Amino acid sequence: MQSQKVTSARSISLNKAFPSAANRYDHYATLQRSNSSLKANVFCVTRNGRSMVVKDYSHARPLIRYTLCKVLIYRETAALKKLQGFDAVPEFYGRYGQHGFSMQALCGEQPTRELLADQASLREQLRNAVNSFHAAGVTHNDLRMANMLLDKQGQLFIIDYASAFQRDSDEKISFPKPLKHLLFRILRISDHAKMLRFLQLSTSFKASHKEQQVLNRAKRLHRLADCWKTLRRMAKG
Ligand SMILES: Nc1ncnc2c1ncn2[C@@H]1O[C@H](COP(=O)(O)OP(=O)(O)OP(=O)(O)O)[C@@H](O)[C@H]1O
Ligand SMILES: [Mg+2]
Repeated sequence: MQSQKVTSARSISLNKAFPSAANRYDHYATLQRSNSSLKANVFCVTRNGRSMVVKDYSHARPLIRYTLCKVLIYRETAALKKLQGFDAVPEFYGRYGQHGFSMQALCGEQPTRELLADQASLREQLRNAVNSFHAAGVTHNDLRMANMLLDKQGQLFIIDYASAFQRDSDEKISFPKPLKHLLFRILRISDHAKMLRFLQLSTSFKASHKEQQVLNRAKRLHRLADCWKTLRRMAKG
C-alpha cells in the first residue's frame, strides 16, 4: 500500500540542511528533499503547538530562483488564494522568506487506487473538488495520486498547485485574454479526463454521454501533443 504519513515524516539531519530553520522550531520534519532547482524542498515545522508545511526554493541556483521559481511560487500561491475555503484545498498561510510559502499541515495519507475504486464517497469528493476548481476558473493540471492526501476524518485534499492555470489571473506578463480562455478550455478537458479516469477505477462507473465526449476529446488532444513532439524531434534531426 502506498502511504505517506505526514506526522511520521523522516526526520533529517536538520542542522546540515536548514541550519536557520532548525533552531527556530520545536519540531521539524522533511517531507520532500529537492534534487533540482525547479523542485521545492518541502518541510513541516511546528512552533508553539502549531504546524505548517513550507514549500521552499531557496536552494535553487540564483538565476532560476529569481526567475522560474518566482513564477512557480506566484502561480501556486495565486491558485491557493483563489481556492481558499474549498473543502479539498489546504489553508494558505502566507509567504515564507523570499523563496517559499507556508500552508496548513495536513495529517493524512496518500489514498491508494484500491481505496478510490472501493469508496464512492472518495470518488465523489474528487469529482466535486475538480468541478469546483473549474467553476472558479482554475485547472490543477497535475492530478495524480501523489498530489492527493486523505486525512483521518476521510476528507480528501488536493495539493501541489505549482502547475495550476487561472483563466482570469492578473499576472503582469500573461497571454491575451482570448488565448487564456482557449488554453483554459483545453486544460480543463485534460483535467476533467484525468478525474474521470480515476472514477473509472470503480467497475460500477458508467461515463455519461458528456463524460465520454470529454474522454474522446482528451484522447485527440494527446494525439495532437504526440504529433507535436514527433515533429520537434524530427526538426532537431
Ligand atoms: N499541505 C501539506 N500537508 C502535508 N503534506 C504536504 C503538504 N503539501 C505537500 N506535502 C507533502 O510534500 C510532498 C511534496 O509536495 P508537492 O507535491 O506540493 O511538491 P512537488 O510534487 O515537488 O511539487 P512541485 O512540482 O511544485 O515541486 C507531497 O507529496 C506531500 O507528501
Ligand atoms: Mg507533487
